[in-house]
Amino acid sequence: MEPLTVDPGFFAIELEHLEPATVLAFDLFLWHPGRRPLHYRHRDLEFTREIQARLVANGVQRLLVPAGQLGHFERYRAQHGKSDPAPARAAPAAGRPPAPPLHPAEARLPALLADREQPLDRRCAALLGVSRRVVEAAMADLALPGLPERIHHVAEATGRFLMDEPAAYGTMVQLMRLDYSSLSHSQHTALYTTELALACGLGDLDEVAAIGRAALLHDIGKAGLPPSITEKDCPPDDPDYPRWKEHAMRGTSLLREAGWDDGTCLEVAAHHHENADGSGFPAGLVGAAIPAAARMVRIADAFDSLTTAYRNRPALTGFQALWRMRREMGAWFDQPMLTVFIESLIAPGGTRRR
Ligand SMILES: [Fe+2]
Repeated sequence: MEPLTVDPGFFAIELEHLEPATVLAFDLFLWHPGRRPLHYRHRDLEFTREIQARLVANGVQRLLVPAGQLGHFERYRAQHGKSDPAPARAAPAAGRPPAPPLHPAEARLPALLADREQPLDRRCAALLGVSRRVVEAAMADLALPGLPERIHHVAEATGRFLMDEPAAYGTMVQLMRLDYSSLSHSQHTALYTTELALACGLGDLDEVAAIGRAALLHDIGKAGLPPSITEKDCPPDDPDYPRWKEHAMRGTSLLREAGWDDGTCLEVAAHHHENADGSGFPAGLVGAAIPAAARMVRIADAFDSLTTAYRNRPALTGFQALWRMRREMGAWFDQPMLTVFIESLIAPGGTRRR
């Protein structure tokens, strides 16, 4: 299958994702290479067998959905998907005890972030501190009571903060630690991914938070593994590489075992090492077959890995990292998304599409 890159304001779906005789809560666009997507069908209309047959007869295998309607599509898949039911929101599994109250620092975070009397760098530091604490809790015990709520709380607070104060992104990037660790890496990746989701046009806080949660947990498959596996950027010629690669599928297993049924988290844990040219793992997915959230995390993950120091490998500057991502690793990434990512670093908030 040819790699597919689309306008960053859209994500691609397979025709087979759509069930005949169902009502779609999202718009459908046709994709033509090099042209603007063409509006094909309005949301809230029935997707009939006749329409399906017409698309098949015209050789259409993929359609586009506006990025801002990702959550509607995920809910549709959860309802009608033949496999991989994917509710958009994290929810405690049935039978779980009620979530305990949030830690005071976590509970007061939204109010602190919204308090413009407080210096911006103080609010940014508070958010980084809370997100680190939550990632640490997840890495220690994914089944911890109240953890889904805490992950959602910090992801939503991050999304709202970046929406309301675009300048916060640049300040947080300046404050981030530049030594690699699995905790700080998850935290950084979530921040970059959340900003990228906003810059790609997602304006619905629930959808932005869903992607932020998934980014916070993308490497959860490393939980409990020895530092020789977790704290390294493992090249293919390393003897530990086969074991290191397993963290992707292990992540989804750990999430499912802990009762997580958040489809975006499951997809991102599994597919955040897929490359657009099909050279990634675990499935070797190509282009738009890779879930949009996983494509975003792939970019954020790579940028953080390159710009943080690990043992004898010094951190690259942002410019060096982006140069390498564009020139040497470019085939791995969704190109329109990479362009938006670069623009978002240059002018935080300035490229957001509403
Ligand atoms: Fe990973």
